[in-house]
Amino acid sequence: MLTRRQLLARAAVASQASLLSNVNAWAALQTQLLQRAIPASGQMIPVIGSGSSGNFDVFPDTPEYAQMREVLEVFFGHGASVIDTSPNYSNSDAAIGQLLSEGGWRERTFLATKIAADSRAAAEKQWLRTEQRLRTDKVELLQIHNLRAWRKTLPVARELKAAGKTRYVGITHYRNHAHDDLVQIMRAEPLDFIQINYSVNSPEAAEKVLPMARDKGIAVMINRAFDDGRLFRAVKGKALPAWSAEANVKTWAQMFLKFAISHPAVTVVIPATSRPDRQADNLQGGIGPLLTDTQQQELIQMFG
Ligand SMILES: NC(=O)c1ccc[n+]([C@@H]2O[C@H](COP(=O)([O-])OP(=O)(O)OC[C@H]3O[C@@H](n4cnc5c(N)ncnc54)[C@H](OP(=O)(O)O)[C@@H]3O)[C@@H](O)[C@H]2O)c1
Repeated sequence: MLTRRQLLARAAVASQASLLSNVNAWAALQTQLLQRAIPASGQMIPVIGSGSSGNFDVFPDTPEYAQMREVLEVFFGHGASVIDTSPNYSNSDAAIGQLLSEGGWRERTFLATKIAADSRAAAEKQWLRTEQRLRTDKVELLQIHNLRAWRKTLPVARELKAAGKTRYVGITHYRNHAHDDLVQIMRAEPLDFIQINYSVNSPEAAEKVLPMARDKGIAVMINRAFDDGRLFRAVKGKALPAWSAEANVKTWAQMFLKFAISHPAVTVVIPATSRPDRQADNLQGGIGPLLTDTQQQELIQMFG
């Protein structure tokens, strides 16, 4: 039988533990990347991922390669997982394959790549090379790059899905002039994902592409959220809007990413950086409140 003193001591420990666990839960909430569901499956993925065009075009035993390892350490350290690549990005897919393998990160990665080929035979051959270079026998997402020969290559992606080589299939583009074609394909073809450009200075995807994705239950990956870096030149010396702190936004990078994820159709945005400090900055864009409609409109006006 416990004495009164023992009972009181246990109660104090229990209440301290519960206080601590509440504090920890609260702290986790403040620092956790938001997640969104992929409509086709309900699988949750973090809203900030990583692109790989240029930044991952590195070779082992170089300072640039070591720097990309640091970028990935920050990336996975913050709970991010989505990486987008392509056989078209020079050495990027091979570097990513090697870095993920060396870091033991493959299991934690939602790996998206592409088919960029003009025929069925070329697409099939390219997939075999992709497996080798990414050092994996399956990916999470396989996309038709820039809609290239999509009538011939989308069926190959679907066959690879049926064979368990990819969990999801999608199509990509990065220019406004392709939006109408993208919408037509979305209307006609079953797709799990689309990838498209959407940014404060190029918000046209919100006109037809993003509403169509919502209607059809297609996940959306956003590229060019920084307009390939041009937006940083546009904001040089420019102060953030007065309401930024309300949205937990401390830098322009966080603002541009928060703009992208504030659209309800968007599942994930994939900024590309070669710098660990910028990776940490970008990931902060996926935490805390989203922008209101008024705040989003103000940004569009500012950069239009
Ligand atoms: N058709 C397609 O499928 C398609 C087309 C385009 C893009 N994509 C995908 O989308 C990804 C993103 O697009 P993107 O690479 O064209 O351009 P982006 O992400 O809009 O911009 C990348 C540029 O922003 C700079 N940057 C990144 N974070 C920064 C920060 N926090 N502060 C200041 N500068 C920062 C980078 O420079 P540093 O490296 O020096 O940081 C780089 O110059 C691509 O990498 C690719 O995976 C796909």
